[in-house]
Amino acid sequence: MRTDSEQTIYLKDYAPTPYRIVSVDLDFRILEDGTRVRAQLTIEPRAETAPGTPLVLDGDELKLDSIAIDGAPLVLSAYVADANSLTIVEPPNRRFVLDTQVTLQPEANTRLMGLYRSSGTWCTQCEPEGFRRITYYLDRPDILAPFKVRMTAPVAVAPVLLANGNPIDRGDAGDGLHYAVWEDPFPKPAYLFALVAGDLGAITDSFTTMSGRKVDLAIYCTHGKEGECHYAMDSLKRSMAWDERRFGREYDLDIFNIVAVSDFNFGAMENKGLNIFNDRLVFAKPETATDANYHGIERVIAHEYFHNWTGNRITCRDWFQLCLKEGLTVYRDQEFTSDERSRPVQRIHDVQNLRTSQFPEDGGPLAHPPRPDHYREINNFYTTTVYEKGAEIVRMLATLLGEVDFRKGMDLYFERHDGEATTIEAFIKVFEDATGTDLGQFITWYLQAGTPQVEVSDSFDAASQTYTLTLSQKVDPTPGQPDKQSLLIPVRFGLIGPNGNAMSWSGVSGGTVRDDLILLDKDSVTLTFTGVANKPVPSLFRGFSAPVKLRSSLTQDDLLFLARHDSDPFNRWDALQTVSTNLIAEAAQGRRWTAAQADALRQALIDTLDNPELDPAFKAQAIAIPAETALGRHIGKDVDPDAIARARHDFVTTLVGPMADQLEARYDALTVPEPYSPDAAQAGRRSLRNGLLTLLTAGSDRGAALAASQYEAASNMTDRYAAMAISAHYWTDEAQALLGDFRTRFAGDPLVFDKWLTASAQAPDDGVIERMRAILAAPDFPRTNPNRLRSLLGSFVMSNPTQFARADGAGFRFVTEAVAEIDKVNPQVASRVLTGFRILPTLEAGRRDAGRAALDALKAQHTLSRNVGEILDRILA
Ligand code: ARG
Ligand code: ZN
Repeated sequence: MRTDSEQTIYLKDYAPTPYRIVSVDLDFRILEDGTRVRAQLTIEPRAETAPGTPLVLDGDELKLDSIAIDGAPLVLSAYVADANSLTIVEPPNRRFVLDTQVTLQPEANTRLMGLYRSSGTWCTQCEPEGFRRITYYLDRPDILAPFKVRMTAPVAVAPVLLANGNPIDRGDAGDGLHYAVWEDPFPKPAYLFALVAGDLGAITDSFTTMSGRKVDLAIYCTHGKEGECHYAMDSLKRSMAWDERRFGREYDLDIFNIVAVSDFNFGAMENKGLNIFNDRLVFAKPETATDANYHGIERVIAHEYFHNWTGNRITCRDWFQLCLKEGLTVYRDQEFTSDERSRPVQRIHDVQNLRTSQFPEDGGPLAHPPRPDHYREINNFYTTTVYEKGAEIVRMLATLLGEVDFRKGMDLYFERHDGEATTIEAFIKVFEDATGTDLGQFITWYLQAGTPQVEVSDSFDAASQTYTLTLSQKVDPTPGQPDKQSLLIPVRFGLIGPNGNAMSWSGVSGGTVRDDLILLDKDSVTLTFTGVANKPVPSLFRGFSAPVKLRSSLTQDDLLFLARHDSDPFNRWDALQTVSTNLIAEAAQGRRWTAAQADALRQALIDTLDNPELDPAFKAQAIAIPAETALGRHIGKDVDPDAIARARHDFVTTLVGPMADQLEARYDALTVPEPYSPDAAQAGRRSLRNGLLTLLTAGSDRGAALAASQYEAASNMTDRYAAMAISAHYWTDEAQALLGDFRTRFAGDPLVFDKWLTASAQAPDDGVIERMRAILAAPDFPRTNPNRLRSLLGSFVMSNPTQFARADGAGFRFVTEAVAEIDKVNPQVASRVLTGFRILPTLEAGRRDAGRAALDALKAQHTLSRNVGEILDRILA
């Protein structure tokens, strides 16, 4: 491995640079055979910098063409330039202009960081360290400067020239070239820089802000795709209005552009005034996009827009603080979706995602605090812990403070830190200062890795009408953090009486209880409630008020009681999930359920389906059977995925058998209005219908044919995809025919091809690895496109547990071989796929050894990127 792959960066080493960049003037000459970048950086030493201190700029795969200071070319002894840095040995002890020139080859940039070309369009991705692949710079988020950008390009291939901020000039440059000049008045770190040059179509619109300013909006895309950008535009306008209403945040430039590109390493990027998006999060039409796609577009458009304040106006001091902008912005986008759609349904969706992705990260070899204190490769820290656990932490803060005080703190944050690059500590401090609350213990959530486990026990004394509730917390050791501190855990709760109604109490002692909130702030808290008339059933962590694993002492009867009576929809859902999880997990470990247990759950599901007060989207979530991966996580050690798959299959068959008629009748009766609309109400009905189809396919012999006819009859992608994916997942007799039809029916649409790759990768039959090998080996497979690679390999590692973790190791080897190839092209995609191996410690010994052997071989046989090297070492540690 390369030597630099071992170097670790520590938070404790943070220090400001000796020089600051006052302003940036960039000139791009974009031609077919290369792009020449001239950078004129106005730089000055800080007051405390000793004269003669060298200036060290970052680079990455750069080659310097020329260099001057204040117009005078530098002699060779005055600087040292290599691919990764440029050092000015003795810079002037005053403000000066450093003028450099480099030439880039965007065509050859398959890593998709810096300036690259996607389907002919020149575009950039700079977060976190891509700008240093464009020019030598102090490429770190605490260096903020105003940028002016001039672009010159052939008018025939690049009639559209975009950069951050406002367009201030454009014109003819002769020889078939034209130019445009953009200026961004808001000082920004280089990671928010962007430019786009290409031949693009667009849709335009406008938004009038709360102070009456008109903002021009545009979404740029490949010609012909304009008609598929309207939902994204609608989402953008709703996001702009919501941020004004909910947080008082107004947009600040006169123009806001979004560009959809086909080759992109992740979802999207919040560059100032010029968001660049993976086109899968922009394009939507009913025939090719699912309800989930529309939902994702709305969410990510909002997310990137919200970054304008949480991320851009206020940014991060260093990359350890990434959670400052990401956790907060995810919280904001979750709130937006909750306000726009159904809050309980969104909450269940977000928690499911947290449990599916973040809990396993937090409980395995890749665990790290939301604010890490060291890293080798920062790109490996754009994780679900930083994003989704980060959002949960902000949500807990809002729960602890209440809506009004939370808003006070946010207002102070915007007021105090606008224009700054700041830290998690500064974020927490605004809430302390705005509300007079001590958050000294709370901040531990950011610093400590691992999911807390909360145990509950209770007792009731009828004679004294006293109810005693004990909650205790514990966090297992995580890599580098053997000892854990107790956290401040907000527990939203209620007590439910035998008639299903909320119960009151006359007094409580032993800890802090404020209205419906218990503060679990020690290892263990015992609360004594007096004046409690009957034995209550406690409903704890309502709305999932903290990201913990709850080990409750409730019986199945208690849980099904909650499923019927809890006023908190999240806990109703969770109670049903807990019952089925427990029954299947126990069966996988040899303790089969009783008929009475299955009957009771079946009846609870039917009652849920029949409850006219519940909305279809909620019912769809309520009747879902936990995935095999979720069951594996629940079991947690010595996992045998085949045993889980068998137990799940048996259980679903037991459960569905006696109610198959009823499910089918409901499936038939459930109509969805036409024409298709992606709104939450229609989408909810489709998801319930597809949830019923899933149960019928998983647990009876009638689903397969229903799925096949739904596939044929479908008038939208949601229903067609669901039918195909369910068939593939349960590997019905029709599955292969449906997959084959789907592939040809939508040939030529790359985003639909991704759906086919995803469904194909989830097939549980023994032939799946051979089929995937053939897909990858096909000469026309787009092997440099992240969406294609992730759809196939990401889906396989994350959601095909029986084949990925095959006992013979074939699944592991297939993935490590693919990772070795991808790593040469795009290390970020490769390392992301490799994280799927984090499950190894949970597997039974044979599979664990097979997985380690595949990783050992990867390490021994290949020169690996820093990205892959770091993930590999952490998993093998
Ligand atoms: N800031 C972007 C967003 O969350 C994502 C950037 C991801 N970068 C990365 N290297 N993974 O909106
Ligand atoms: Zn973000």
